[in-house]
Amino acid sequence: MTRTPLIAGNWKMNLDHQQAIALIQKIAWTLSDADFDYEAVEVVVTPPFTDLRSAQTLIDAEGFKIVLGAQDLSDNDSGAFTGDISGEFLSRLNCQYVLVGHSERRTIHGEDDEKVRLKIQAAIRHNLIPILCVGETLEQRNSGQMDLSVKQTLAALEGVNLENLVVAYEPVWAIGTGEVASAEQAEEVISMIRKGLAESKGAEFADKTRILYGGSVKANNVASFMKMPNIDGVLVGGASLDSEEFANIARYREHIGV
Ligand code: PGA
Repeated sequence: MTRTPLIAGNWKMNLDHQQAIALIQKIAWTLSDADFDYEAVEVVVTPPFTDLRSAQTLIDAEGFKIVLGAQDLSDNDSGAFTGDISGEFLSRLNCQYVLVGHSERRTIHGEDDEKVRLKIQAAIRHNLIPILCVGETLEQRNSGQMDLSVKQTLAALEGVNLENLVVAYEPVWAIGTGEVASAEQAEEVISMIRKGLAESKGAEFADKTRILYGGSVKANNVASFMKMPNIDGVLVGGASLDSEEFANIARYREHIGV
């Protein structure tokens, strides 16, 4: 089974719709100048909700092959949920992916495994591929809870029937801190997640599911992760806001000569 590598940019709460247009244009131009092969490596951006319509219009009009995703969705489909965004609206904007359970949602908005599970189900209802984010804090790592990401993954998928999933292992201590996990550390946890998926959802599902690493990924460290057999891509925060840097991350194959 070959898994298409996925390079995803999580813009978080940065850039308005005009800045979003400029950034997507620059990424697309930089990649097309370099004859980038989008079939070989999938490139996704997840701008803020208010940027999505402008991003979609641009991508459609220019025929860019950059894929759109969102950073969150409601677990409900419609109704009296002030401030929430339905997965239905996201699919109508041609979003193909949605981040679910990012550590900032879990800590700032109190989303627990049950909420994350309901959001995964909402994503499936609207044909969005969830990028399920999991990862341990420094205290959890120091107290030996290295299987926390496996537990979070399985809790989010309990009783859920799904065809397509991406998991992003993002150790909380490596997010936005500049303190990057070593490729070996990431590979160790990611292979545990794959094993957990195989046990709960079957070998075929585990084999086709892409598992990404996230946390202070930059152009100068991406290759070390991508060389690992179980790491299928990266979820990039800060470095995804810089077109050159993000394009260089997407072009990681040139750094490792494949
Ligand atoms: P970072 O963020 O690359 O800025 O560490 C990653 C993320 O939160 O997805």
